[in-house]
Amino acid sequence: MTTTATKQFILQQMGIDLWQQRRYVEQKSVETHQAPQQSMQESLQLLQQKVSKCTLCALHQSRTQTVFGVGNPNADLMIIGEAPGMNEDKQGKPFVGRAGQLLTQMLYAIGLQRESIFIANVLKCRPPRNRDPQADEVATCTPYLNQQIELIKPKLMVAVGRIAAHYLLQSTLSLSRLRKQVHQYGSQKTPLIVTYHPAYLLRSPVEKRRAYGDLLFIKQHLDSLS
Ligand code: URA
Repeated sequence: MTTTATKQFILQQMGIDLWQQRRYVEQKSVETHQAPQQSMQESLQLLQQKVSKCTLCALHQSRTQTVFGVGNPNADLMIIGEAPGMNEDKQGKPFVGRAGQLLTQMLYAIGLQRESIFIANVLKCRPPRNRDPQADEVATCTPYLNQQIELIKPKLMVAVGRIAAHYLLQSTLSLSRLRKQVHQYGSQKTPLIVTYHPAYLLRSPVEKRRAYGDLLFIKQHLDSLS
C-alpha cells in the first residue's frame, strides 16, 4: 500500500507543492521509521540535499540550481539525459523545455505517464551555454547517478542521446550502432537501451519514425521484465 510518506515524496518529485498541517508532519516523522521502503526514500531525499550543495566541479559556479531528477522513486523505468539546459537550470527539474515536452509525448505514445517513471541526467548542473559535458565533470558527477540507480533500482534504463549513451556505456560507437539492443549498466547489470535525444528529434523530425520503433522496443522489453 502507498504510505503517506511515499505519496508526499512522489508529489514533491513531481514538483507539486504541499501545504501540511503540523499533525501531518508529526505523523510523517513517526512513519519514516517504519518500513524499509521509506528509508530508501529518505536516502534519496538526503542524496538530493547533498547534490544541491555540491561544489565538486566548476559547474556549481554558473548554475542557478542543481537538477537532481524527478519522478516515481519506485519506478521500473529510468530515463537518463546528458545534462540540464537553460529551462531545467531555472526550474530545477529535468526535461522541462521543448525537448522535455516531446519526451513526455514519446512516453505517452507507449502508454507511460511521465510521473510513473524517474527522469535524471548524467550531470546535475547545467554546462555553460549548453556545451557538451566534459569527461572530468562526468567522472565527478557519475557517483550521484549511480547512487540514484542503486536506490531506485529501475528494471530498465533508457539513455537518450549519443552523449548520455557514450558516457553510460563507455563507448564511442555511433548511436545507430548502439540502438535496438539491450546493454547492461553498472555492477547491477541493469538493462539499458539507447534511443535518440528528443532535442535531436526536434531538429530532425524525419527520425521520429525510427524513434517510435525504439519506443516500441523499450515497451516490449519493459513488459518482459515485469
Ligand atoms: N537535455 C537533457 O539531456 N536533459 C535535460 O534535462 C534537458 C535537456
